[in-house]
Amino acid sequence: MCGIVGYIGSRKAAPLLLQGLKRLEYRGYDSAGVAMPGEGGRLWVHKQKGDVAALEAAMGASGDVPPATIGIGHTRWATHGDPSDRNSHPHVSMDGSIALIHNGIIENHAALRIELEEHGYRFMSDTDSEVLVHLIDHLWKQIPFAAFESAIRQALSVVEGAYGVCVVSSREPDMIVVARHGSPIVIGIGEGEYFVASDAAPLVEYTRRAVYLADGEMAVLRRDGFSVQSIGSVKQEAAVVELDIELEEIEKGGYEHFMLKEIFEQPEVMRDVMRGRVLPGEGIIQLGGVSGYLAALRSAPRIHICACGTSWHAGLIGEYLIEEFARIPVEVDYASEFRYRSPLIGPEDVMVVISQSGETADTLAAMRMAKERGATVLGICNVVGSTIARESDCGIYTHAGPEIGVASTKAFSAQVVVLAMLALALGRGRALTEERFGEAVRELHELPGKMRRILERHQEVERIAGEYAGADHALYLGRGYNFPVALEGALKLKEISYVHAEGYPAAEMKHGPIALIDEEMPVVVLAPQDANYRKVRSNIEEVRARGGRVLAVATEGDREIARAADHVFYVPDAAPFIVPLLCVLPLQLLSYHVAALRGCNVDRPRNLAKSVTVE
Ligand code: F6R
Repeated sequence: MCGIVGYIGSRKAAPLLLQGLKRLEYRGYDSAGVAMPGEGGRLWVHKQKGDVAALEAAMGASGDVPPATIGIGHTRWATHGDPSDRNSHPHVSMDGSIALIHNGIIENHAALRIELEEHGYRFMSDTDSEVLVHLIDHLWKQIPFAAFESAIRQALSVVEGAYGVCVVSSREPDMIVVARHGSPIVIGIGEGEYFVASDAAPLVEYTRRAVYLADGEMAVLRRDGFSVQSIGSVKQEAAVVELDIELEEIEKGGYEHFMLKEIFEQPEVMRDVMRGRVLPGEGIIQLGGVSGYLAALRSAPRIHICACGTSWHAGLIGEYLIEEFARIPVEVDYASEFRYRSPLIGPEDVMVVISQSGETADTLAAMRMAKERGATVLGICNVVGSTIARESDCGIYTHAGPEIGVASTKAFSAQVVVLAMLALALGRGRALTEERFGEAVRELHELPGKMRRILERHQEVERIAGEYAGADHALYLGRGYNFPVALEGALKLKEISYVHAEGYPAAEMKHGPIALIDEEMPVVVLAPQDANYRKVRSNIEEVRARGGRVLAVATEGDREIARAADHVFYVPDAAPFIVPLLCVLPLQLLSYHVAALRGCNVDRPRNLAKSVTVE
């Protein structure tokens, strides 16, 4: 949430900052702004409500963008204060000499604001972030001859909460200071130039070399070098890493939206996530990132899974997978709930945390809590080098490539496959027979081809979407492995098309939601031919008897269901644990097309942002 960019070098900063902000817009699009040295060395700041394209147009129209070679930029997801010009970043000190951008939340902002107001500071916004710029200004004035970075360090030691910050000053026109505590900051290293960003996406077109700041670290960037220190002033070794993202991975590549591109990438993503791990010829699953921990994982009395949103849905499928294949009890929690109860977790336990971004604040906090209590933590993340990936004891990357669409699609499928591989690898050392293991591995191997066959029929889903796009509510039903898919289908629909949707275990319908059913209420039923098929068929009859419209997702060859449902979308036959990965595709496409037909901005759903770094 909130995207931060910075540049110092010899090129013009403005176009680089705008391009970087466009790459980060999935982190927020309530407002955008930039700051850079302008005429007479004074800071030139332009910020406004709306997206980066609007900012770019306004800057172009202003005709006075300075040719500065240093600057900072921000795209906002509003937390404190409405999306408006005045609450946009950068925030500027009263004399206009310091500009600051911030991602995170300053929790003690109210107390600091009162103190600063007593010192004569006037606030121009309702944000928590603005206190930081005045605090830096105040402390800098208090300490004669103090370095800019010292004032920033002092200010950061006073604030509580989470931050990724980037600060410039007209009094120190050749430096950018960045710091992080809880919100990510990456520094891209070029030749005589440095880039700053909230994640690696804006960096890869300029450099492959980067440093991920750790929590509690601060860096000073100048054209001729950079240094990293702890906020407590101790010099740190900066670990330079190679970024492994390709530029085409963060571009739309001919698709109208990132979400659609990412849906279509899934067969290839499945290959990437299994490459070198699922070896059907040898009948083994190799998970390098957890190999040293397998014995501890297998002997755990219980596995806790914690995540948020779509990743939590993947976690629910993980529960079915691990219990089926490894026969280890699993508990799945929303990370935000886990951390605020008194969970029973100790050194014998294992916690699996699942996060596409690897930065979700609640998931990170739940994970740290489990670590404090001595549990072994296994992270399943997509973003390489993310905080959760780095702080886990062991982990498995999903290798889904950058996910830019705010609604998660390919990351979900990759998480489920990782959980399937984990369940099978755990089961291998426990009760799972060689024969069942071999069958499951073969099923995994066939998954990308089956997904491809579904996606080839995407126009069928588009047609069906036309029938349902006018509905204002929808119910999604599924059982067993497909119950979490019902939740995921409903989440996808509501987040991008703003249609109210609920996911339910099919059998639960009779315990309440059936009261909602009428001719206006489409019901999406996941009805593959598995052990629950007959029961789900009865649920369909119950819906139809009350005038409800049914869209069934069923197994190829099931002619019977075509008579019972209004519309059917067929998926290839597969083992029950593979079916959720097939059923989710038409649901993703359905939400995409409904949203598009309703004129919604698919990649930028209102009020949402990717990577929820605030609690
Ligand atoms: C929904 C969606 C969110 C995320 C959730 C967790 O499409 O994207 O529900 O799944 O915010 O994010 P990560 O996986 O980054 O921890």
